[in-house]
Amino acid sequence: MNILVIGKGGREHALVWKLAQSPRVTKLYCAPGNAGTSQEAENIPIEPQQTQELIEFCQKKKIDLVVIGPEDPLVAGLADEMRARNIRVFGPSKRAACLEGSKVFSKELMHRANVPTSEYGVFEHPDHARKYIDSRDYPVVVKADGLAAGKGVFVCSSLVDAYQAVDRIMTKEEFGPVAGRKVVIERRLDGQELSCIALVSKRNLLLLPPAQDHKKVFDNDQGPNTGGMGVYCPAPIATAHLQAQIVDKILVPVMHTMKITECPFQGVLYAGLMLTNTGPKVLEFNVRFGDPETQPQLFSLQSDLLDALEAVVDDTLDEFPEEKWQFDPRSAVSVVLCSEGYPGKPKIGLPIEGLEEVNRLPDVKVFHSGTIQSDNQILTNGGRVLSVTAKGDTLSAARERVYEAIKYIRFPGMHYRTDIGLKAAGQNPSS
Ligand code: GLY
Repeated sequence: MNILVIGKGGREHALVWKLAQSPRVTKLYCAPGNAGTSQEAENIPIEPQQTQELIEFCQKKKIDLVVIGPEDPLVAGLADEMRARNIRVFGPSKRAACLEGSKVFSKELMHRANVPTSEYGVFEHPDHARKYIDSRDYPVVVKADGLAAGKGVFVCSSLVDAYQAVDRIMTKEEFGPVAGRKVVIERRLDGQELSCIALVSKRNLLLLPPAQDHKKVFDNDQGPNTGGMGVYCPAPIATAHLQAQIVDKILVPVMHTMKITECPFQGVLYAGLMLTNTGPKVLEFNVRFGDPETQPQLFSLQSDLLDALEAVVDDTLDEFPEEKWQFDPRSAVSVVLCSEGYPGKPKIGLPIEGLEEVNRLPDVKVFHSGTIQSDNQILTNGGRVLSVTAKGDTLSAARERVYEAIKYIRFPGMHYRTDIGLKAAGQNPSS
């Protein structure tokens, strides 16, 4: 089979790396990819928003399956455009992708499906939003309705903060006129966060190992939010009982409600959850694999990813055998190495050293995010540069291995968190 993966992050490198292991893959492409994807696939210089060029490429190269990585092209309707031309695609329709593309759609769907989430209000006018804020207890969370590259969510501990968030989203339109047309305001939930991610077709699902991401840039959850600084899986906190509860009370009701509202979901359903005292509650849904969650998840996947992706596309997950969805039970940890300046403006074009040595280590894999090949050198090309990923018999052992591996890698201004998985390893040293 000829396969095209769309995107250029660590998630897409992990997808390409895993798909390259399938005996059924003849030729693998990545558009546009990064220096890491070019080691396993042929990079194609087409950006995810270049719909027509992507379609022409698929037709010319007789692509048998397209895997869309990032949310923007899904929300823009790339999967529909391709399906309309008989190109097989793994990824939800534009309508179903509203689950991530519109916080209002997502909240209304959860309400309809009786899925546990924080109580909320939706506002189209800043005056109405401010009036609601006046009546609330703090902290509250103010969210721009549309996609905002992970930046349109404000946790506000005072009325002044909440007014400012409304102003930035709706009046100043910092995230664009569409994303800021409406806001969702909700009560902040307390607890631990969990990423529960599943491959979903109309009637069935396959869970990936539950993961815990670290969003703040500095150790001890200090500093501004990022796209994700590191992650581990399986998260010891997510017992089999908790996972069953999440499937029954959250994932299945969402799938069912989407189906009966003529908006069936096919692709990756990613529930960002808060594990509260009263049970798991949804913070947000995403409609694609996580980044960096995908890196340790696929590093642990022992089965052929292509079989599972095809079962989703063909809606045959009902008969998908359990033995074709097996994971290494050991712990996996991924730590993101970032450029100076990230999560603000990152420095790019800096040479990265030590990659060859680190890739020779057992149970270690470096997935590339913001990298580019230039002559014989690999250079930084974004804020999140590399996800160093390692497995170990325990979470502590995986942590030890990943941080040992990082010592081999150098680029000017490199920074990363040193406490990925530390709390969970400490709470449960035998895990
Ligand atoms: N890990 C956060 C995300 O994928 O959105």
